[in-house]
Amino acid sequence: MTRPLTPDDPTFDIDERHPPIRTRRVSFDWSETPLHWVPGDPVATHIINSFHIVLPEGEKWFIQCVKDARPYIKDAKLLEEIRGFIGQEMVHARSHQGVLDQILEANGIDVSRITGPAGRGNADRPAQMAALKERSPRRWRRRLRLELAAVAAIEHYTAVLGQWIMDNDRLDKAGVDPTMLDLLRWHGAEEVEHRSVVFDVYKAVGGRYPTRVLAWVLSLFFLYWALIGGSLYLLNQDPTIKGKVSLPRVYRSYRRSVRKGHVPGIFRLLLGEAPVYLRPSHHPSQVCSTPRALEYLMQSPAAQAAGYDPY
Ligand SMILES: [Fe+2]
Ligand SMILES: [Fe+2]
Repeated sequence: MTRPLTPDDPTFDIDERHPPIRTRRVSFDWSETPLHWVPGDPVATHIINSFHIVLPEGEKWFIQCVKDARPYIKDAKLLEEIRGFIGQEMVHARSHQGVLDQILEANGIDVSRITGPAGRGNADRPAQMAALKERSPRRWRRRLRLELAAVAAIEHYTAVLGQWIMDNDRLDKAGVDPTMLDLLRWHGAEEVEHRSVVFDVYKAVGGRYPTRVLAWVLSLFFLYWALIGGSLYLLNQDPTIKGKVSLPRVYRSYRRSVRKGHVPGIFRLLLGEAPVYLRPSHHPSQVCSTPRALEYLMQSPAAQAAGYDPY
């Protein structure tokens, strides 16, 4: 049974299938954050920066998919969770956009080759979906289910990465910029909080196992492309190392960064989750820890300054 969470009550009984999901309207001041916010480690910095590139439009797409499915959801609890999910993802998208504008663009790094097409894709999608629904409701349902399954797979990884960054004290020891660390941990904690929502929406609209597997494979390709392609795209534009970027050097730096705990080993992390996510009986509530997420959110400077939307 759930009961409302208050900031001074961090240890209440948590229903992991349905933790309370609330929107915290955080904001960040990037005026003191250097370009290499993992000190002396541009490769680790830009691997994580590649998330900043794809998340603003990516999270807007997550919201569109969930909104398309919402009229078909009957469960009042899930509808309430969808409300919290949409609020959280909107603030995430806005916060990562701030990093793009105020850190990357401000240092002469242009991200529009990726964000431009993604933004146009999101702008065109509602009309495309409406036309498809008109033409063939069956194909519309199939496409929506595939998209929801892809979002559910990506949400598995955002929760797992969220747990990783909350638990990783080596980033503090490495002197990572505290504002950036707070953004990543606040976002990660909220990903853990709402990790079940899209999966439950997918199930509620009749999503089945084979499409879940197919969408996981597609998502895996997308995540590898986003992380590897995004990092190289950023490193090649970084004004401090331009012209010195080669694949073997980047790979060696990446291995060093993994050993130091600055980034997770992305090959092992992404594929290593297959036995977890692809178990037919899998539910997101079986992975990650809501109490740990709440514990972080109670101490996050941005979350504490923001307060949260009431129920
Ligand atoms: Fe998010
Ligand atoms: Fe999310």
